[in-house]
Amino acid sequence: MNIKEQTFGKTSDDKNIILYTLTNANGLTAKLINYGAILTTLELPGRDGKFTDVTLGYDTLEDYIKDDCYFGATVGRCANRIAKGKFTLNGKEYCLATNNGPNHLHGGIKGFNKVVWDAEVFEEKTGPAIKFTYLSKDNEEGYPGNLTVTVIYWLTNDNELKISYQAETDKSTPVNLTHHSYFNLAGHDSGDVLSHELTINADSFTETDETLVPTGEIKSVKDTPLDFTTTVRIADHINQVEGGFDHNYVLNNKNSSLTLAAHVYEPTTGRDMELYTTEPGVQFYSGNFLDGVKGKNGAVYKKHSGFCLETQHFPDSPNKPQFPSVILEPVKKYTQLTVYKFSVK
Ligand code: GAL
Repeated sequence: MNIKEQTFGKTSDDKNIILYTLTNANGLTAKLINYGAILTTLELPGRDGKFTDVTLGYDTLEDYIKDDCYFGATVGRCANRIAKGKFTLNGKEYCLATNNGPNHLHGGIKGFNKVVWDAEVFEEKTGPAIKFTYLSKDNEEGYPGNLTVTVIYWLTNDNELKISYQAETDKSTPVNLTHHSYFNLAGHDSGDVLSHELTINADSFTETDETLVPTGEIKSVKDTPLDFTTTVRIADHINQVEGGFDHNYVLNNKNSSLTLAAHVYEPTTGRDMELYTTEPGVQFYSGNFLDGVKGKNGAVYKKHSGFCLETQHFPDSPNKPQFPSVILEPVKKYTQLTVYKFSVK
């Protein structure tokens, strides 16, 4: 089996955290831990055949426990912001933990990135995989209902990192899961990502207020620096956007089939990434808040050292009836599929 397990650490309540290394038929490796269902490392070849770790992260469990950047994390129960941490569902108001100014961000103080998941590795013809499961109890961070969540990561022999999500609840609840890796296709410790070339298949985005909560308006990207409908070097637009990119794009695909959402190319190493998803939105975040974070192998991550493409439903959906709904009903199943496909060009 192309899966290795080694001890990564122990939580304060004595739970063992294991580092799982998945290797595919082409020698690509993905490392994951059962704390936060976090991807700690992704090693990909470049044009010169050299394998390099292309995701930002830490060396130790203690650093992941302290982390507030969400490096490599599985984010939930609701990714992104919920205004004032409040929403009303079936006539009842719910108050969530607020952890980002006045708002709720990425599941709250102890989101899915800060809990210990059950893990099970398996191998299929398509490559090695790991299945994480977690029971988020009724009222956790203020959310209603017991929610069972499953996240499966595959490292396929077609050089894809494929992430599939499922969730079921016993009470109506909002659910909006995402993956929060920061990529730098030149290498996690190679400086900023501004020379990466980006395309996003989105003609519009959700406008936000000064706390990054959507106003409810969906605006066209046309004639704005947010337009990535044709390929743009990130550097060529970033100075026209105050603070950098941190926007939810409304993807052009409207039928929740697995569709190309974005494409990123790093010209010096030739590494190329295609992003496919069943979700209606993707948050493009250009690592604006990275401020000298001490990472793996002595690396120091500064502003724009990595970028995230977080596939998800739109921020603050529980308070925006005009957005696609994130409410999961007890009789239904939440599903999501997102694929990061890598190659060298
Ligand atoms: C992103 C979010 C940013 C910031 C970051 C974590 O998903 O869009 O605003 O909160 O996570 O630092």
